[in-house]
Amino acid sequence: MKTYLVTGGAGFIGSNFIHYMFGKYGDDIRIINVDKLTYAGNLENLKGVEERENYTFVKADICDKESIRKIFQENDIDRVVHFAAESHVDRSIKAPEVFVQTNVLGTAVMLNCAKEVWELPDGSFREGKKFLHVSTDEVYGSLPDDENAYFYETSPYEPHSPYSASKASSDLLVKAYVDTYHFPANITNCSNNYGPYQFPEKLIPLIINNALQGKKLPVYGDGKNVRDWLYVDDHAKGIDMVLEKGKLGETYNIGGHNEKQNIEIIHIILETLQEMLSPDDPRKALVSEDLITYVEDRKGHDRRYAIAPDKIRAEIGWEPETMFKEGIRKTIAWFFEHEEWMKNVTSGDYQKYYQEMYQDK
Ligand code: NAD
Ligand code: TYD
Repeated sequence: MKTYLVTGGAGFIGSNFIHYMFGKYGDDIRIINVDKLTYAGNLENLKGVEERENYTFVKADICDKESIRKIFQENDIDRVVHFAAESHVDRSIKAPEVFVQTNVLGTAVMLNCAKEVWELPDGSFREGKKFLHVSTDEVYGSLPDDENAYFYETSPYEPHSPYSASKASSDLLVKAYVDTYHFPANITNCSNNYGPYQFPEKLIPLIINNALQGKKLPVYGDGKNVRDWLYVDDHAKGIDMVLEKGKLGETYNIGGHNEKQNIEIIHIILETLQEMLSPDDPRKALVSEDLITYVEDRKGHDRRYAIAPDKIRAEIGWEPETMFKEGIRKTIAWFFEHEEWMKNVTSGDYQKYYQEMYQDK
C-alpha cells in the first residue's frame, strides 16, 4: 500500500485531488494531508474523507522543518504531492513576502526532508519514491495575442508577478535537486483550474458568487486577457498519471486547449446561470450582463497563457475529459448545492470549523 504525503490538501486543487484519489483507489492507498490552514485552507472541503481510516490530517506549516521531518520519520512516505502554496496573483502583488516564504522556503524544506529519508548511503535513492511538485504555467510568463503561440516544457522561464516568480524559484529548486542529487522528482506545470471548492477570490467562483447576488462583476483592463481553463478533476487525473508513469526528472505541462478571454468566460457563466436557474428562483432576475464592470487593470497583468500538452499526451497518455461547457455546468451545479460552503467561506466562518472539529485532538 502506497503512502502519499499531500501538502496543501485543504485547498482547492489539493482537496479535489484527495477526493479523486480515494474515489479511484479506495482503501488501497494511505494519504497524509499536511496543511497550515491559511485563509485558503478549508477542512470543510474534506468532509466525508475525515472519517476514513486511511486518511490523516496534520496541521503544520511546510516551513516548519521539525514538524515536516517528524512526518517523514514516523511514516514511510512513498509519494509527496506538493500543492501547498500561496496561490493568488493579486495577493502576491499586495504582499509578496509570504509567497517567498511558503512557495520557495517551504518547498526547500519539503525537498530536504524527503531527501534525508529517501537517500541511501551511496547517494542513490530508495526504489519507488517520488516527489511531485505541482506548479503553474505562469512561470513561462506571457504569450502574445497569437493563437499559434504556446508554452512548451522547453519555453524559457519569464515570470512577472511575485506569485509566478516564487513558483518559478521553487521549480528551479526542484530541478537543482534533480540535477545535483538525481533526486526522484517530477514537475507539472498546469494551466488555470476551475471546479468545486475553489476559493471565491479567483475569477470563476467570484463571478458565479457575485452574479447570483446581483453584485458587480469586475473585469480587469479590457477583459481580453486569455487563460487556458482546465476542469480540476482532469488536473488530478494528470497528477496521478505522472506519479505512475512520469519519467524521473521530467517536467510535464498540463492543459486542455481551452483558451478563452476573461470576458468570454463571464458571458458563458451568465448564460449558463440563466439556463440553470428555474423561472421562480428570485436570483434569476439578478443575473444580468449589466453587472459587468470594467475596472483598473491588474499591475503587470499577463496577456495570454496557453499550454501545448503534447508531451504528457504522447508520453503518459493523458487527455482532458471534461469539455468547458460541461465543466462549467458541473461547477455551477456544485455551487448551487453548496450555498452553506460559500456562506461560510465568504463570512470567514469556515475558519472556526477547525477549532470545533479538532479542539480535543
Ligand atoms: P489554494 O490557495 O486553494 O490552496 C493552497 C493550500 O495550501 C491551502 O490549503 C493552504 O492552507 C495551504 N498552505 C498555504 N501555505 C501553507 C504553508 N506554509 N504550509 C502548509 N500549508 C500551506 O491553492 P490551489 O489553487 O489549490 O493551488 C494548489 C497548487 O497548485 C499551488 O502550488 C499552485 O501554485 C498550483 N496551481 C494552481 C492552479 C490554479 O488554477 N489554482 C493552476 C496551476 C497550478
Ligand atoms: P485569476 O482567477 O486570479 O487567475 P490567474 O491570475 O492566476 O490567471 O484570474 C484569471 C483572469 O481573470 C486574470 O486575467 C485576471 C482576471 N480577473 C478579472 O478580470 N477580475 C477578477 O475579479 C479576477 C479575480 C480576475
